[in-house]
Amino acid sequence: MTVIQPGGIKNVPDGFSGKVKWESPSNIALVKYWGKTGNQIPANPSISFTLKESKTKTQIEYTKRKEISDKPHVRFFFEGKEAGQFGEKTFLFLKKVDIYFPFLSELELTIDTENTFPHSSGIASSASGMSAMALGLMSIEKKLNPEMSEHYFYQKASFIARLGSGSACRSVYGGLTTWGESSLSNSSNEIAIPLTDTHPVFDDFQDTILLIERGQKEVSSTVGHGLMHTNPYAKTRFAQAQDNTTQLNEILKSGNLEEFGALVESEALTLHGMMMTSTPYFMLMKPNTVAVIHDLWAYRKATGNHVYFTLDAGANVHLLYSKSEAEQVLQWIKNELIGYCENKMYICDAVGHGPQAI
Ligand code: DP6
Repeated sequence: MTVIQPGGIKNVPDGFSGKVKWESPSNIALVKYWGKTGNQIPANPSISFTLKESKTKTQIEYTKRKEISDKPHVRFFFEGKEAGQFGEKTFLFLKKVDIYFPFLSELELTIDTENTFPHSSGIASSASGMSAMALGLMSIEKKLNPEMSEHYFYQKASFIARLGSGSACRSVYGGLTTWGESSLSNSSNEIAIPLTDTHPVFDDFQDTILLIERGQKEVSSTVGHGLMHTNPYAKTRFAQAQDNTTQLNEILKSGNLEEFGALVESEALTLHGMMMTSTPYFMLMKPNTVAVIHDLWAYRKATGNHVYFTLDAGANVHLLYSKSEAEQVLQWIKNELIGYCENKMYICDAVGHGPQAI
């Protein structure tokens, strides 16, 4: 099923200009997307929480151009400074999506973007950045076509965000979302869909991100996905992710935290297992990542608290726990874990309601 067709609005009226601004959060996957084919089609389904605090804010100013050309006309600013590398990535993204936004060839854009989380914290900015950008483009399209339904607006935003970065398609919605064809109804390889009917314990679930190591990752996610083509365990892994998606969906309804933790921790270790069994192999966990995991297991055994870890494609550890246990868990983090964090840095985040136009 192709959800979104190329083509659409063109013939921008004279004098068309203005600005749109969105803030969009990052997300943390519980069932991991790792491996893709074709045009950003995931090899397996994933489920994630959209966060609240770790966001990208993106403003797009647009003006009708004097001359039409098929080359995007864009200036790109990152945190107030005209940006080279980031600008190039955005330029390529705009070129890639322009078949879905024919009006872009008639516009001049100035894009200004900033993150709320610290520079090179190891938090992926592609999910928040690409979703904010996709929503901004949709807002411009909506100005040209005010009749557009909200449902279509978000579906197309998710579709476009995916073309920028796979995980970004899940950030378009708040709460829990799933992306990739699975046993869940209406699931799609092209867009994410929100998971409704989840247990209230997850409405304000906490995610404390321990910043184990800042700085550029040694292997990018895009390269990591590519290595799944030759990973000998890939087929089994993709089948496992299918099962885990079905199972986690049930757990998210029941609110059984022990089952939640067992599945989510296994997913995190499997993701890193796939990295270690790729050719060439690589490892993004650091000694302090492993130390935190062992301390967490000991803490859980001693206290019976429901706190679990997950990892993204990096060394940072995400600690997941319910709001009702937050006071105790935070105390433990401050007492025992901040020594493992670079410059004692950690970010207190939680499940959020999704992006907002500002
Ligand atoms: C481990 O979405 O960053 O965070 O599609 O190449 O941009 P690209 O990759 P990206 O990969 C995310 C991988 C992950 C798992 C996940 O978010 O599901």
